[in-house]
Amino acid sequence: MAYTIQQVDLDDAEVITDIFRQAFADDHIMSHIHSNVPEDIQWEHDLQYFKTILSQGGTFGARWSKAVESTTGKAVAFARWVYPINLSPELEEKKAAAARIRRALPAGSNKALSDEYYDNLWTGRKRWYDEKTMYFLHILCVLPSHQHRGLGSLFLASGLEAADAAGAKTHVDPTPAGYPMYVKWGFEDVDKFFLDMSPHGGHKIEEQVVMVRHPKATKA
Ligand SMILES: CC(C)(COP(=O)(O)OP(=O)(O)OC[C@H]1O[C@@H](n2cnc3c(N)ncnc32)[C@H](O)[C@@H]1OP(=O)(O)O)[C@@H](O)C(=O)NCCC(=O)NCCS
Repeated sequence: MAYTIQQVDLDDAEVITDIFRQAFADDHIMSHIHSNVPEDIQWEHDLQYFKTILSQGGTFGARWSKAVESTTGKAVAFARWVYPINLSPELEEKKAAAARIRRALPAGSNKALSDEYYDNLWTGRKRWYDEKTMYFLHILCVLPSHQHRGLGSLFLASGLEAADAAGAKTHVDPTPAGYPMYVKWGFEDVDKFFLDMSPHGGHKIEEQVVMVRHPKATKA
C-alpha cells in the first residue's frame, strides 16, 4: 500500500481526532481514565484539544505530518514532533493553557487516575526534557488497520534525522505499544514511574517509562 506524507492543517482536526481515538482505544491507562465518559462527549473534548494545538501552528516548535493512503486519499496516521525552541514567558503561559484543556476532563472521567498519570508524565518531562535543546516526539498515532507497515518508523525517522543533524537529544514518553519501536531506534530508559491501576478498575501496575535518545554521528 502506498502513502504520501503531507502537512497537517486546522481542517484536519476531525480526522486527527479520529485517528487518535482509534489508535488509543486499547490503551490501558487512557481507556480507564475515560471509561465512564460517553463516546460523543470524549470525542468532542479531544477535538477541542486538537483544534487548539493545531491552531497554534508551529508557534511552540510543533511539526505536524500525516500519512495519506494514496488510493483512498484518507489520512491514516499522524505525528506531532516538537523541535527545540526558546519560548518567551508569555508563550510558555499560552502553551501551559493548552495543556490545561487536555487535563480539564469531561464529567465522568476518572480524575484521580488522570491526576496521577499526568503528574508522573510532567515530573518526567521536567526532569529529562529540555525544550530549548532537545527534540520531542509528542504524539504518534497509526490507525490499527494500518499498523505494522512501517508508518510509525517513518515518522520517527524524520524527526530523528533532524535531531542527528543538529547533534541533539530526543525525548519520548512511550506507551507500551510504542516502547519496542523506540528501543529499536536507540532510545534508552532514563526514568520510570509506577501507576497502580487496581484502585481504578484496571488489572496491573503500569510502568510509565521516560526515554531519551542520544544523537548518532552523521556524515560530515
Ligand atoms: C506505536 C505505533 C505508532 C507503531 O506504529 P506502526 O506503524 O505499527 O509502526 P511500524 O510499522 O513502524 O513498526 C511496528 C512493527 O511493525 C514491523 N513492521 C514494519 N514494517 C513492516 C512491514 N512492512 N511488514 C511487517 N511488519 C512490519 C516493525 O518491525 C515493528 O515490529 P516490532 O513491533 O516487532 O518491533 C502504533 O502501534 C500506534 O499508533 N499505537 C497506538 C498509539 C501509541 O501508542 N502511540 C505511541 C505513543 S508513544
